[in-house]
Amino acid sequence: MTTTTEIQIELHTSPTSQPDLNRLMEAPGFGKVFTDHMVLARWTTDKGWHDAKVTARRPLLIDPAASVLHYAQEVFEGMKAYRATDDRILLFRPEENARRFNASADRLAMPRIPEELFLKAVEQLVRIDRDWIPSGDGSLYLRPFMYANEPFLGVRAAEDYVFCVIASPVGAYFKGGAKAVSLWVETGYARAAAGGTGAAKCGGNYAASLAAQAEASRRGCDQVVFLDAAEHKWVEELGGMNVFFVMGYGSLVTPPLGGTILPGITRASIITLAGERGLRVEERPYSFDEWRQDAASGKLVEAFACGTAAVLAGIGLVRHADGEFVVGDGETGKLTAELRRELVGIQKGLAEDKRDWARWIASD
Ligand code: PLP
Ligand code: COI
Repeated sequence: MTTTTEIQIELHTSPTSQPDLNRLMEAPGFGKVFTDHMVLARWTTDKGWHDAKVTARRPLLIDPAASVLHYAQEVFEGMKAYRATDDRILLFRPEENARRFNASADRLAMPRIPEELFLKAVEQLVRIDRDWIPSGDGSLYLRPFMYANEPFLGVRAAEDYVFCVIASPVGAYFKGGAKAVSLWVETGYARAAAGGTGAAKCGGNYAASLAAQAEASRRGCDQVVFLDAAEHKWVEELGGMNVFFVMGYGSLVTPPLGGTILPGITRASIITLAGERGLRVEERPYSFDEWRQDAASGKLVEAFACGTAAVLAGIGLVRHADGEFVVGDGETGKLTAELRRELVGIQKGLAEDKRDWARWIASD
């Protein structure tokens, strides 16, 4: 069996059509445009990881019996490469994505990928497609994923997997840009239950969230916010983001990591940055009733959603089955904007990197 340190990532570059990033960034949307290359690697029980390569982006050939198509054995990550003002390229805490990818793989009974292979694969792709990385407000969203490739209809962990990384130049996740977002509070559908896959980044969690997200859209809201599955009482997270509540500028509250929400890397970074500002951060259960009361009393001054794709987005309006309420003045709050500026400054290499979060990519 091949060990990771022996794995070389072969390069098969494709003739590149020069990306017109100006045109792209005029109406980028999120995840609609892709770069020219991708990473592929294979894992089988007899050979372990092998055949790692960066190659021209192309459709994947997949057997109709491949178990991912039937039983959703798939995990993924979301991370970004940024272009600094001096044109150097950096990744933000990519080791955390590698670690979480393996934690997700464990939960889905999939093979772990050595962190160094994950990181090397991502870096090679970024290097080869570096011309696709927008400057200014844009970034290159990276999507590493792994799926069960064995053609087999019995229900057990597959014996053949594909690891792939694709990349997409992106602008703001929400159409409104920095405008505060609106949320629909879902009390029927749950995202994750204790003992389930809520803490893993697996495709099935997102498939299960789509009906609730569609309901949020029907209600005129940008995102759905899920409550816990047992009592439909405690705030968990959004369809694709964690959530924070700002209490009177002295403290932040965010739901705890109990296995039912994704341990966000942005969430962890905000906890650190807020702590460094002298704010108290409480990771504790926070109920929807408390949220509604705190918004009404003015104790809650701001709320925000955070994640790689969305960065930090102020929450302005909260709609629920019995009505709606506004958070603060309904706009993105002052602390939300400051924390966003600070985080983006580190991610784009503009601010001092005291915590060693930036990974600079050598140009060659
Ligand atoms: N929660 C969910 C369900 C997500 O999909 C994401 C995005 O990845 C997050 C939270 C935030 O995680 P991160 O900050 O690591 O991107
Ligand atoms: C991310 O932020 O990376 C995600 O995976 C969330 C998704 C809504 C795009």
